[in-house]
Amino acid sequence: MKHYLTTDDIENLPKTIEEAIALKKDPYAFEQLGKRKTLGMLFFNTSLRTRLSTQKAAMQLGMQVMVMNFSGEAWSLEFEDGSVMNGSTAEHIREAAAVVSQYCDIIGVRAFPTLTDKQKDEEEHVMKSFQKYASVPIVNMESATAHPLQALTDAITITEQKTRGRPRVVLSWAPHPKALPHAVANSFTGMMQKMDVDFAITHPEGYELNPEVTGNTPIIHNQDEALKDADFVYVKSWSSYKDYGKVLHTDPNWKITAAKMALTDNGKFMHCLPVRRNVIVDDAVLDGPQSIVIPQANNRTFAAQVVLKQILESM
Ligand code: CP
Repeated sequence: MKHYLTTDDIENLPKTIEEAIALKKDPYAFEQLGKRKTLGMLFFNTSLRTRLSTQKAAMQLGMQVMVMNFSGEAWSLEFEDGSVMNGSTAEHIREAAAVVSQYCDIIGVRAFPTLTDKQKDEEEHVMKSFQKYASVPIVNMESATAHPLQALTDAITITEQKTRGRPRVVLSWAPHPKALPHAVANSFTGMMQKMDVDFAITHPEGYELNPEVTGNTPIIHNQDEALKDADFVYVKSWSSYKDYGKVLHTDPNWKITAAKMALTDNGKFMHCLPVRRNVIVDDAVLDGPQSIVIPQANNRTFAAQVVLKQILESM
């Protein structure tokens, strides 16, 4: 693997999932592979899971890790070519990416969307600029439109927890007071389309994801109907794609309750976290036996580790 920017960078998904599960059983099996190699993790946005699990993954491969938060700690970056930098930006991405490439063997980048400039977000302005001007592999730690480390985590979790060959997996929109990105929903959708699952998406009208992402995936506007017989219920809030970045409504009827989970076939509740309790999901579900959010989050480490391993092996 050269870079990990989207789930399409995974060459062999079943083999990668198998490898991640093997790493989970023996996390230090490849601790010589990353010896004297450095992972630099650059955060333009906040994180708990991505930061700690990716750092842990790198350390288990024997790597050194450096972390930098761009909000407040680093020079403010300019991304436009030819710009006259007499405003708020102090350093151009051309120099920044080239310099960091001299300190790091792999660079991880987290940069959320603007949710106001659809074109810039769709172009993956920040991630693509790092890819263009860095001379080392780039790992997407959640970008404007994609969260491929989360999606690989979810694929590993479903593979581990499924109780039948072709499980029914439902991605459900949930209400949230703030406008949230589409990245997790996009990458989860792309990943489920690659897996042998019966996959459907449910959301209220107006919350359609990018049709290029959803493709032929069935979209059901009746949440109760969609949840029927589901083996996995993956819940996520996102803002409108068509009315870009807007919260159209926060209909509380879309919150996941014990009654909704009772419609499933003893389905497992999944969420990428962080989750707003009693807004997205009731305490009774999150704290109940159907919730697998904690083991799901644990798999973040092994998703990151298999990605870093495959990149290190291709160097
Ligand atoms: N799921 C996820 O990416 O969590 P963090 O935002 O805490 O990294």
